[in-house]
Amino acid sequence: MEIHEALYTTRMMRRLRPDPIPLDTQARILDAAVRAPNGGNTQRWHFVAVDDRELIREFARLFREARALEYEKFRTGQGPMVTPAPGADPAAHAETMRRIKGSGDYLADHFDEVPLLLFVFAIDDLGGANIYPAIWSVLLAARAEGVGGVMTMVLNNFRDRVNELLGVPIEEGWKMSAMLTLGYPRGKWAVAANRLPVHEVSSRNRWDAPFGLEVPRPLWPPHETAELPAAG
Ligand SMILES: Cc1cc2nc3c(=O)[nH]c(=O)nc-3n(C[C@H](O)[C@H](O)[C@H](O)COP(=O)(O)O)c2cc1C
Repeated sequence: MEIHEALYTTRMMRRLRPDPIPLDTQARILDAAVRAPNGGNTQRWHFVAVDDRELIREFARLFREARALEYEKFRTGQGPMVTPAPGADPAAHAETMRRIKGSGDYLADHFDEVPLLLFVFAIDDLGGANIYPAIWSVLLAARAEGVGGVMTMVLNNFRDRVNELLGVPIEEGWKMSAMLTLGYPRGKWAVAANRLPVHEVSSRNRWDAPFGLEVPRPLWPPHETAELPAAG
């Protein structure tokens, strides 16, 4: 797959088919992911692939409970999902949250059927900086295999139970960074167009100076690259 297609179309896919992901496909995904940059090349990461149906049912129960906690926080104006970027349209954010909740509800309701969970652990992930390149590589490599998924954090509400269920050697310093659900999507891949354009989130030389070029629409597929207006 051409790299830009992967970059533009790797969306969070929450509606997944139950079909298993073959082991060699899983191996290709993880083999790509462990090429990711990491500070000092210490590679203090560990990936636990879960395909045991009973365990997945247990995690499904935890996931639903954890999600209810997160949405309760959201409802009462707390947590990371509440506040859009400064200056962003609150109505647009509310609409985004409504959509995320819709597909998240589907994932929660069908979690028992998810073919593969991938728990990602790290020692001192530097606030995520040391593990997110690898996590993003998992999702990009999965995209190349036609496998989709979503990275989730909600199980952090039940860290101890997760560690217990997976037998994590926490005394060595391992901490869960994220849990990914993976499977073959029911829907179609599409360009992530619901993002503020480059010129609205970038500047040049100074925070409040224009970036220099307006990018009113995604630059991929390439036929859409013609005639970019210069910023005024
Ligand atoms: C740090 C982080 C945590 C996330 N946690 C969740 C989560 O718990 N549940 C979920 O459904 N999506 C989660 N997501 C996915 C975001 O909701 C998703 O990236 C965003 O809505 C954009 O979706 P799109 O890439 O499909 O356009 C998370 C993403 C990141 C980067």
